[in-house]
Amino acid sequence: MGGWFTVQGANLAGTTRVLVTGVRGKTGVPLAELLTARPRVEVRGGSSDPSTIHLADVRPTAFSWDEPSRWAAAAEGVDAVYVVRPDRADAPELIGALLAEIPAQARVVLLSERDPDHTGPDGWAPRAERAVQDSGRTWTILRPSWFMQVFTDPRFYRDSIVDTGEFPFPSGGAAVAWIDARDIAAVAERALLDEGHAGQVYELSGPESLSLPRTADLLSAAAGRPVSHREVTIAEAVVGTTGFERDLNVLTFERVRAGRFAEVTDTVERVTGQPARTLRVFLASTGPAVPSANR
Ligand SMILES: NC(=O)c1ccc[n+]([C@@H]2O[C@H](COP(=O)([O-])OP(=O)(O)OC[C@H]3O[C@@H](n4cnc5c(N)ncnc54)[C@H](OP(=O)(O)O)[C@@H]3O)[C@@H](O)[C@H]2O)c1
Repeated sequence: MGGWFTVQGANLAGTTRVLVTGVRGKTGVPLAELLTARPRVEVRGGSSDPSTIHLADVRPTAFSWDEPSRWAAAAEGVDAVYVVRPDRADAPELIGALLAEIPAQARVVLLSERDPDHTGPDGWAPRAERAVQDSGRTWTILRPSWFMQVFTDPRFYRDSIVDTGEFPFPSGGAAVAWIDARDIAAVAERALLDEGHAGQVYELSGPESLSLPRTADLLSAAAGRPVSHREVTIAEAVVGTTGFERDLNVLTFERVRAGRFAEVTDTVERVTGQPARTLRVFLASTGPAVPSANR
């Protein structure tokens, strides 16, 4: 461990302090890696369980949406905050309350998602974005498509792919422009640290729109064994969830079926100068995360 601890508390001129909420999540990890690689950037990695944070040069920081009394300490003196929208009913109120605790000059980058016009339960998604836009802070909103990391995250499809060689997904024949979370992180890094992103709403996707059978073909090629997509109903896909989470999941899959995640944008390349990664490149770089024929 180096960088952060050498500047801790020193308030060095020119040092930028960034709070990354959700630092152990799909975008949080690559974002922390990008930020710590930049000179004179201190990274506070927010988690409800900071003891689980073992990212080089990241200061583990207690941050839970359920503990507002600790937000001020987490955000004290920061220049920028990356806000991973919590998928819960009170997210708009929580985000507004958090932003009231951060320094007035701090930049805010919100991780939202594609299809801004859907209202969700109780106008939920637009209200979460408005909490940022109305905060009086300098803001940027990221609206990504589905993350490629859902295939390698055990909380999503990884275990299904490993155990059964298939993944159930109610696509209704629609395609998805999967995006690598590392590309979302790269856009976030620019918006947090660089000029020119204030008031921007970035629609983010990967470079190609893939049907689910085509997606399965690419997973098969990476794994070296057959991986197939199984078309299921939305009701089947949301089994095990209840309440707001279920409502949100149903709505998300309805939007998938309506093709709302299919559109390809060039925003990643416009913002970062690098083309968005293909699913093939993503799968090649995940190594053993995708089960091979030998596992
Ligand atoms: N997933 C997608 O394809 C997708 C697409 C578009 C938009 N989004 C939006 O992006 C936001 C983040 O969603 P996400 O699904 O990508 O979640 P995520 O960032 O991977 O994880 C969110 C949080 O879950 C907690 N967590 C619990 N168990 C964990 C584990 N085993 N590994 C890592 N984190 C764990 C972590 O918080 P603690 O450290 O505090 O426990 C983490 O920050 C949501 O608002 C979602 O709607 C997601």
